Amino acid sequence: MVGKITTGFAGAVFAAALGLSFVHPWGDVRNVDAGGELLGGSEISPGVRQVLEQKCGDCHSNRTHWPVYSRLAPGSWVMEHDVSDGRQALNFSRWQKMRADQQIEALSRIAAEIRSEEMPPTAYTMMHPTRHISDAEKQAVAAWARAERRRVRAAMEGQKEKSGQ
Ligand code: HEC
Repeated sequence: MVGKITTGFAGAVFAAALGLSFVHPWGDVRNVDAGGELLGGSEISPGVRQVLEQKCGDCHSNRTHWPVYSRLAPGSWVMEHDVSDGRQALNFSRWQKMRADQQIEALSRIAAEIRSEEMPPTAYTMMHPTRHISDAEKQAVAAWARAERRRVRAAMEGQKEKSGQ
């Protein structure tokens, strides 16, 4: 009897979750143009590119890998919300469209977030242990962010001189 009630209840919860999975409170974040290369136009080694694509790209690019379980509400909402907010804060798919000063700002933030271990978020690395970022990877990203910032700034100043500003 109790068994039947619990099975019935679990069935109802599952059916409700399935129904709710068609609701996307943060818009259709799954259907975006995956577009071209991430971090387009930057000078970046294949190693650092791989770290950023694999460990940040799910939330900070249009190339999100959605696991099968990400389809079911309410978990789907948590993930879609992260992706929606993450892309708004920083989107590697839009890198090439950013102005030089925006790229410089983003590079400083990337270095700061990694140094303070705010990113990738702990809840995410607990769910996906392979996305944990090692100390060596952190240092490589920080060194790249510094070098790339210098390069972008020098290019920006070169442009200004040319246009006589
Ligand atoms: C599970 C999703 C997720 C992953 C993975 C992730 N982030 Fe984020 N990130 C977010 C969200 C959500 C925000 C916006 C809210 C906030 O600042 O916490 C954000 C914000 C940021 C910001 C902006 C902070 C600011 O000051 O405005 C930077 C920079 C950033 N992330 C870098 C990274 C880097 C670098 C990685 C990979 C090492 C990474 N993130 C991985 C979800 C993620």
